[in-house]
Amino acid sequence: MSDQPLILGIETSCDETGVGLVRGTTLLANAVASSVDEHVRFGGVVPEVASRAHLEAIVPTLNRALAEAGVSLSDVDAVAVTAGPGLAGALMVGVSAAKALAVALDRPLYGVNHLVGHVAAEQLENGPLTEPVVALLVSGGHTEILLVEDIATSAELLGQTLDDAAGEAFDKVARLIGLKYPGGPNIQRAAADGDPAAIRFPRGLTSQRDLERHRYDFSFSGLKTAVARWVETAERAGEPVPVADVAAGFQEAVADVLTRKAVLACQERGISTMVLAGGVAANARLRDLTRERCAVAGIELRQPRFSLCTDNGAMIAALGAAVVERGLPPSPLDFPSDSSLPVTQVLVG
Ligand code: KG4
Ligand code: ZN
Repeated sequence: MSDQPLILGIETSCDETGVGLVRGTTLLANAVASSVDEHVRFGGVVPEVASRAHLEAIVPTLNRALAEAGVSLSDVDAVAVTAGPGLAGALMVGVSAAKALAVALDRPLYGVNHLVGHVAAEQLENGPLTEPVVALLVSGGHTEILLVEDIATSAELLGQTLDDAAGEAFDKVARLIGLKYPGGPNIQRAAADGDPAAIRFPRGLTSQRDLERHRYDFSFSGLKTAVARWVETAERAGEPVPVADVAAGFQEAVADVLTRKAVLACQERGISTMVLAGGVAANARLRDLTRERCAVAGIELRQPRFSLCTDNGAMIAALGAAVVERGLPPSPLDFPSDSSLPVTQVLVG
């Protein structure tokens, strides 16, 4: 194991400052500082607040990761960092820190894709992936189905949300029914006492016509509006809003459409492995339904533990390790962060 290079990974694309250390597919450290508490009163991530928090957290988080792995900076063989996509100001903090470290240590620097990093994280859980895989990425910032042919070089975007991300929908619907941010865990808790079949909310982009044009795409804004209408109608009638049933019906609609399309993508592309990642992958109903439907379809489901599902530096180090193993050339020191880096670009050249 120790003959594999030690890769330092830095992640600052949203509201988590993550620093991870990895050798090959072995996880050595995963230190994360989240600014989520600072965004609660705004009901969502405020980019300037996130950038400032990254600045304050980056050095302490780096030190925590080094201590956790029992290594020092001079042991690091290469530095990997999220180049994008993400919040522009937030990305800049991580990219600047990574450049400073690479120059100071005289080590190669790799600017890598955040989305592909989420998939690479799985290797830290269950060992090397046997590509190709279909990845269902669901978080507050993204909802995508990716086809990954080769984690170090090739990813294809099969589908994505046309409006809100799945986690964003959880957060907005939570607000509509009086639950706090982040909405996901609070909706899941409320849904536990509800009947998922009591209210049937719409499944976006699943009609025959929509499937022709948006086969693997998602839309959650109609679902959000349907919940808003339902709540309004109950309130106008002077009836109490059945929060548990609304939460359960909404959660069911999201889980149903996500899993249905991801399984369809596997079947139609002839892929036998699915990776489920992103913060929303913490949702118990989504996990159960994915497992159930993958089992029926004969698809192997791979899923990292929750701390590797949400944004973190270890996933970036894992992708960096795959890129280094391939002997791919490092990124130039003047590479810019790119808030809309396409998923097809695994490594910034
Ligand atoms: O991956 P993540 O930590 O950050 C982003 O890249 O966005 O995902 C955060 C999102 C939030 O929208 C949160 O509501 C959602 O993940 N989330 C959940 C659950 N836990 C977190 N959504 C549904 N059910 C959960 N248990
Ligand atoms: Zn993410």
